[in-house]
Amino acid sequence: MKLRNWIAGAGLLLLGACVPAGESFEEEALRYCDSQVRRTLAELKEVGGGSIDYTMMPRNIADSLTVWHCRKAVKEEWCSGFWPGILWYDYEATGDETIRQEAEKFTASLEFLSRTPAFDHDLGFLVFCSYGNGYQLTHNPAYKQVILNTADTLATLYSPTVGTILSWPRNVGMFGGHNTIMDNMINLEMLMWASKNGGDPSLANIAISHADKTMKYQFRDDYTSYHVAVYDTLTGDFIKGVTHQGYADNTMWARGQAWAIYGYTMMYRETELPRYLDFAQKVTDVYLQRLPEDYVPYWDFDAPGIPDAPRDASAAAIVASALLELSGYVPGEKGQGYKDAAIKMLQSLSSEKYQSRAEKPSFLLHSTGHWPCHSEIDASIIYADYYYIEALLRLKALDEQK
Ligand code: GLY
Repeated sequence: MKLRNWIAGAGLLLLGACVPAGESFEEEALRYCDSQVRRTLAELKEVGGGSIDYTMMPRNIADSLTVWHCRKAVKEEWCSGFWPGILWYDYEATGDETIRQEAEKFTASLEFLSRTPAFDHDLGFLVFCSYGNGYQLTHNPAYKQVILNTADTLATLYSPTVGTILSWPRNVGMFGGHNTIMDNMINLEMLMWASKNGGDPSLANIAISHADKTMKYQFRDDYTSYHVAVYDTLTGDFIKGVTHQGYADNTMWARGQAWAIYGYTMMYRETELPRYLDFAQKVTDVYLQRLPEDYVPYWDFDAPGIPDAPRDASAAAIVASALLELSGYVPGEKGQGYKDAAIKMLQSLSSEKYQSRAEKPSFLLHSTGHWPCHSEIDASIIYADYYYIEALLRLKALDEQK
C-alpha cells in the first residue's frame, strides 16, 4: 500500500510544474493526476459555495455524469480514506504545501474512527490510506496514535476460534456464519505496521493467522479466490466459499483476485515468510494468464457478455501497484515479467480509453464497483484513482533507483 518501505530512500519526488524534457510516461501521468486533483479541489470549493466541506469525500462519477458524487465520512462509508490518501500521494509527488494542507484537513475528518467501536474490517482502508500516508510523509506523532488506536479497534473483530477477522459483522445472518472477505487482506497491513511501531506486538499474530487461514480455505485448486469465506462461528470450521460482488460463487471476481495479489505481496514484505511470496506468485499467475489484450480485466473473468462486459480499471490499478512490488522480490525473468506486466497495465490505464482527461475530474474511467447490485458500473471510482497514483509513484521510485 502506501508505506513503500520496500523502496529504499523514496522521498518527496518534487516534480516540476512545467514539462521537463525527457519526461518519463509515469512522470507525465503524475502531472496529469496533479492537475485532476486541483480540478477536483476547485469543484469541491465551488459546490460548497466558496468553501470545502472536508467531511464529504469524492466517491464516484457515474458513467453518464461529470462531477464527483461525494459521501459523508461516517463509519459505514468504506471509501473515505482514499481521497485523503490521494492528496498525500499528490503532495509526495509535487511537494506543494497547499496540497499538504488540503490532505491534512480531509484526513482530520477520519479521526473519529480511532475512538469509535469497529463497524467492520474496512478500518485499514479508511485510516491507513489517510493517516498512514500522512504519517509516512510527516511523522506527526498524533497521526501515529490514530493509527495505533484504530489497529486495536480492528483487532476487536478477530475471532481466535476461527483465526480470521470478521469482515462484515452485519452480514453474519445473511451468510450463515463468520464471514471473511478477500478485501480484508489489505487491512492486515495496518496491523503489521502497528505491531512494529509501538502497538501490541500480537497484532502481527492476528494478521498472520488471518492470512494463513485465508490461504488455506478461500482459494480454489487453481488459486482463483472466493470473495467470501464463511466459517462456523462456534467451531471455526470452514462452511463454504461464495461470492458477493462477483458473478458467481465459482468465478474469479477481478477485484477480489487483485486484493489477494496485493495482500499476499504485502504480507511477504511485512513478514518475510516464503509461503506468502510463493502464494502471491500463484494468485498472480492465474490472473495474468486470463487477462484480455489491454491488461485491464473484465469486472469478473467469467462475466456474461465478454468481450462487451464492463471492465474494472480499479483491479488493474491495484494489481499494477502490487506487481511493481512483487517484481522486486522475485529474481530473474519471472520478476522482470511482473514488472513488464505492471507497466503494460499502467500504460493501458494512461491511454485515452481509460483516463478521464477533460471529460471528468477523476483520473480514470471504467471501473466496476458492485455489478450484482447494479451499483458503480463502468464508473470512475475513487479507489481506482488511489491505486493508480500509488502505482505511478512506485514505478517512478523504481526508475530512480536504476
Ligand atoms: N472492498 C469492497 C470492494 O472491493 O468493492
